[in-house]
Parts: sequence; C-alpha cells; structure tokens
Amino acid sequence: MNTITVTHPTGSYPIYLAENALNHAGTWLAELGHAGRCAVVTNETVGPLHGSTLLASLQSAGFEPTQIELPDGEQYKNLDTVANLYSQLIEAKLDRNSPIIALGGGVVGDTVGFAAASYLRGVPFVQIPTSLLAMVDASVGGKTGVDLPQGKNLVGAFKQPEMVLIDPNVLNTLPDVEFRSGMAEVLKHGVLSGESLFEALEINSQKPETQAKPHYILSTELLHDAVMVKVEVVQEDPFEKGRRGILNLGHTFAHAFERLANFEMRHGDAVAIGMVCATRLAVRLGHCSAKTAHRIEAVITQVGLPTQIPDYAPADMWAAMFTDKKRVGNTVRFILPITIGDVGIFTDVQAEDVLAILAGEYVNV
Ligand SMILES: NC(=O)c1ccc[n+]([C@@H]2O[C@H](COP(=O)([O-])OP(=O)(O)OC[C@H]3O[C@@H](n4cnc5c(N)ncnc54)[C@H](O)[C@@H]3O)[C@@H](O)[C@H]2O)c1
Ligand SMILES: [Zn+2]
Repeated sequence: MNTITVTHPTGSYPIYLAENALNHAGTWLAELGHAGRCAVVTNETVGPLHGSTLLASLQSAGFEPTQIELPDGEQYKNLDTVANLYSQLIEAKLDRNSPIIALGGGVVGDTVGFAAASYLRGVPFVQIPTSLLAMVDASVGGKTGVDLPQGKNLVGAFKQPEMVLIDPNVLNTLPDVEFRSGMAEVLKHGVLSGESLFEALEINSQKPETQAKPHYILSTELLHDAVMVKVEVVQEDPFEKGRRGILNLGHTFAHAFERLANFEMRHGDAVAIGMVCATRLAVRLGHCSAKTAHRIEAVITQVGLPTQIPDYAPADMWAAMFTDKKRVGNTVRFILPITIGDVGIFTDVQAEDVLAILAGEYVNV
C-alpha cells in the first residue's frame, strides 16, 4: 500500500492508495479514532456498484453506517441537493463526531464535502474518489462546493478530509469515456511534473492493450505519481494564491469551450483541446519548442482525446475567456508549457495571438 501524507495549514491527512482499499476502509477509519454512526453518501450509479463493499467493511469494524444516494449528474451539484442531504443526515441521527464519507466522482465529492463543512458547523469528512478525475484532482486539495444557476462552483468552502482512500479497482466499472476524461488531467500532471511521468504515459499510450481499453495506460504506480503532482502543488499553495494556478494548464481555453457549449462538453475533452491550444500558443510566442508541442499533441491523440478546436467564432471564444472567475482584473491568465516539466503563468498575452490560434493559424514547424 502507498500512503501519501498531505499537510495543510491546520494539520495533515493520509491518502491511502491500494488495490482493494475499499475493503479496509472500516479498519482505517477506526484507526483514526472514529466509531459508531457514520454516513456513506454516494450516487445512484456508484452506490449499487461499490456501496455494499464499503458498508460491509465499515460494519465489520463496528460502525453503524447509513447509505444515502444522491441523483447522478452535474445538474444535481446544487444547494437543493445539499439541503436534502442535511435532512437525511439529521434523520440518520448523525452528530458532530459522525464521519461523512463521500463515495463517488467529483460531483459527489464536491457536494458532500460542502455539506460536511457546514452540517453542524463541520463534521469529519472522508473522500473515496471513484472516478479517475476525482482521484487525481477533485479529492485532493480541500476545495468543495456546488454550482449556482449563474455558474459552476460559485458557492463552496475549503474542507480538508480526515482521510482519502483511493482504490484503483473501482476504476474497472468506470466507463471508458469517463476514464479518458480523467486522463486529460493525468496528462496535464505529466506536462507539469516532468519527463519521468510524461514519458511513461507516452510509452503506455502506444501499447496495443491501451488502444483496446484505455484503463491499461495507468499502473497503480503511475496513478500514485499523478496524484503526487496535485499533492505537491496544493501543499505549496493551499488557498490558491499563486503557484496552484499552474494546475489550470489548458483550462483558460477549456472553460471558454465549456461555457459556449453550455457545459454539455465533457471537462476532459475541453481540457485536452485547451492543452493543445495552450501549447500552440506557447510555440507561437516562442516559449516552447515545436518538438515539445508535437509530443503533447501526440499523447493526447493517442489516449483518444479530441484535439480539434470547436467551431465557434474565435472572437466568441476569446470573449468567453473574459468571464472566467479566475480572471485577474482585466487580463486573461494563460498557463503555457515551456518544456515537459516546466510551465509559465503569462498575463500579457495579446488578443491577436490567441485569436490566431483559435482560428487554426498554426504551423507546426
Ligand atoms: N474540488 C476540486 O478541486 C475539483 C477539481 C476538479 C473537478 N472538480 C469537480 O468534479 C466534477 C467532475 O468530476 P467527475 O469527472 O468525477 O464527474 P462525475 O462525478 O459526474 O462522475 C462522472 C460519471 O462517472 C460515474 N462514476 C464515477 N465513478 C464511477 C465508477 N467507479 N464506476 C462507474 N461509474 C462511475 C458518475 O456516477 C458519473 O456518472 C465537476 O463538478 C468539477 O467541478 C472539483
Ligand atoms: Zn480540470
């Protein structure tokens, strides 16, 4: 088993990464000093697949768990779902010391984390991410929250978990299309971290078994390395004041595509195309070599993610970047690759350069 310790401003917590970790959840939660009632909050898709394994593990360690199922989908990541969840937690007689365990993808983790931060002014919280995206991104870093009709993630709280449990076996039930979406963030972490992870992903992406089933690209070791990239960045910048911005590689473009598609575009697809655009922009501005750009585009394609810029008017895509909540003043911030393992944060990129990339004026020299 791999144990990663994450330190944050008010303490630290373990990430346990191991095959069949779900079966050990009860023992590990008891080791943290918990007992008695607890809630497993999942959704109607993940609950029937993995809920009973988790419940059995909790029961055999002496817990009295209640399973609560939320509806599945980003459209339910809202305050109505949270209000409903509070009622069910009260009904299940959960008190201030009762842990709430989120079992699911990023939607479940964000919603349940926010409820755990606010129910009775905060109760112990455990993350059991079941999608690849949630394992390598959403479950690490303490950000929780829900969407408002006006936009995504507009209400939330920093809520650090007591423990994160990653069981790679649960990925076996994750649909390929969701796995690929998570791979966009893994590839992003590869670009951020350096040759060792990126090269391994390049090699694995070319294997015939990966072409048949994308899940074969990631060994448990590579999953661990991808999680570590996020851990290291958030430890350095827990409240997103500076360096954590590098995790937004490809996201300035991605958020614009998603907004124009009314969020009907999968996040990983948007990030993949966004990384392609960021890389081409970096080449155009002389920050990145064409060879590096070629490697990044090649691995994205190899994984089966899209690279084609959507068909919106470039001016509309550029305008959509200005409504990004991560915008700083009147400038749009771009995270651009410099080389594998090094990116820069640029706030002085000119509109004409971005528009040229969005219009497809890019020659791979
Ligand atoms: N808090 C953060 O720092 C952070 C970071 C990145 C993303 N997010 C949020 O995460 C959300 C996206 O997360 P996501 O991509 O996991 O989406 P998701 O939670 O909607 O999961 C995708 C789909 O896969 C299903 N699923 C999950 N695990 C499964 C499994 N093991 N087997 C079968 N089906 C499974 C889900 O039920 C869902 O239908 C967004 O709301 C985003 O804002 C948060
Ligand atoms: Zn993302």
